[in-house]
Amino acid sequence: MTPGRFYITTPIYYVNDKPHIGHAYTTILADCLARYHRSAGDETFFLTGLDEHGQKVQQAAQKRGLAPLDHCDDLAPRFLGLWKKLGIEFDDFIRTTQERHVAVVQKVLQQVYDAGDIYVSEYTGWYSVAEERFITETELSSGQFRDVKELKERNWFFRMGKYQQPLLEHIEKNPDFIRPVHRRNEVLGFLRQPLGDLCISRPKARMSWGIELPFDQEYVTYVWFDALLNYITAPGFGAEETRFKKWWPASIHLIGKDILTTHAVYWPTMLFAIGLPLPQMIFAHGWWLIGDTKMSKSLGNVINPLDLIDEYGVDAVRYYLMREMILGQDANFTMESFIKRYNSDLANDFGNLLNRISGLIGKNFEGCVPSPGEPTADEKDIQNAANMLNNKIHGLIRELRLDEAIEQVLQLVRKVNKYLEHKAPWKVAKTDLAYAGTILYTAGEALRVSTIHLSAVMPQKTKTVLEVLSAVGSSPAWGGLAPGVKLKSHEALFPRLDPPPPSKC
Ligand code: ME8
Ligand code: MG
Repeated sequence: MTPGRFYITTPIYYVNDKPHIGHAYTTILADCLARYHRSAGDETFFLTGLDEHGQKVQQAAQKRGLAPLDHCDDLAPRFLGLWKKLGIEFDDFIRTTQERHVAVVQKVLQQVYDAGDIYVSEYTGWYSVAEERFITETELSSGQFRDVKELKERNWFFRMGKYQQPLLEHIEKNPDFIRPVHRRNEVLGFLRQPLGDLCISRPKARMSWGIELPFDQEYVTYVWFDALLNYITAPGFGAEETRFKKWWPASIHLIGKDILTTHAVYWPTMLFAIGLPLPQMIFAHGWWLIGDTKMSKSLGNVINPLDLIDEYGVDAVRYYLMREMILGQDANFTMESFIKRYNSDLANDFGNLLNRISGLIGKNFEGCVPSPGEPTADEKDIQNAANMLNNKIHGLIRELRLDEAIEQVLQLVRKVNKYLEHKAPWKVAKTDLAYAGTILYTAGEALRVSTIHLSAVMPQKTKTVLEVLSAVGSSPAWGGLAPGVKLKSHEALFPRLDPPPPSKC
């Protein structure tokens, strides 16, 4: 990654339905990474948005008896509203129906056409009228499709196959281009077969909700050829060259594994054809599952993030999603694991540490932060652990290992809780008040450092803790807690939850 500059994107989500936990996950992860990079001083550009063209959206609008754009205008605020509630601080929100994007798509289509990489051809295949799409031979023989007919259709094709070799070479030369490594291998496997050309048009007679081809008015462009270009529209391709040069290529395209091929094969070949550098990293995370199946709109097994936020608060939701999914693997969403995680990490470990420290400082030091005094080996051990954490977090975030970074912080929090139990400053205070102060200063300081490291994940609650400690805006370096300041009063950070009743199924 280019030092000092960080451009991160999420997929642009289809507006065929309201957002669920899966969409929230990718967007929160991008938000956390953007927040870490901003606080590390990197100039940061965080892009998210909506994919508004294509058949899925056209059908969703039709079902509701709405014109496609009215449908999109109705759903866009639901995404924006959720992002606001989730504390997502994006820098740009793109909708593919915006004029700036339509202009880029048509400009690119014309450029690639002029360069000879787009041609017209007849395509014959099995078309399912019920599904409104071409199906494969395997799908045909499954007998699951109704109204199938052999259809001959004239369409426009992008010479994707021409860029197979350059793409392979790029992947081989750049081990970080596709991550994690098992996804990279998957793409390399896919590219062992000859890469065909890509049909990039849809006849308007069949599907009209899209961007018109500048060289053939009877056709709109295929939704993916349109959607992927959002990543260059937003930083100003073709419109603001200086700004575009500043941000492109993207540092990370964050996606789910469901859209790996479009991002790791279609998109780079398109960029080759346009003559632009490839993104520095495509990172495909796993899926949130319900039981054994993917949480998805089409399966209808979705968890609505708004319900969770209303019940448990935004920071608990962000924390659970970021901590529970091991980056790159699938994770199971269950209310049991949600409540368990909340109680163990947030109520018992993190929230409890604040309670203990503020309670003991209240009782023994009239609520004022005591002086650090003379640290013994035990205090130095905590201080070392906090200093080491600063370096570890930095490395883990550069590697996108957010779940591990969180675990590292929680290990410090647990260590400090144990240290307090072992040291029993409430007893020490009776005989050696100065040393009791040293213990509480050390614990309070380690809490402050831990809180700063969790602030990208839990922006609200960490702000409360830093306010209690009068340490808003302080750096994670040891020693930021000011002796003598009076702690602000506060409520329990994360009140314990009752375990859910055992599930019946
Ligand atoms: O594919 N677990 O949009 P989409 C984890 N418009 N992440 C999930 C998820 C789950 N169960 N379900 C969805 C599209 N996601 C295209 C993208 S980009 C140029 C165009 C997340 O609405 C994950 O990031 O189907 C996944 O890749 C994305 O939502 C798909 O959203
Ligand atoms: Mg999808």
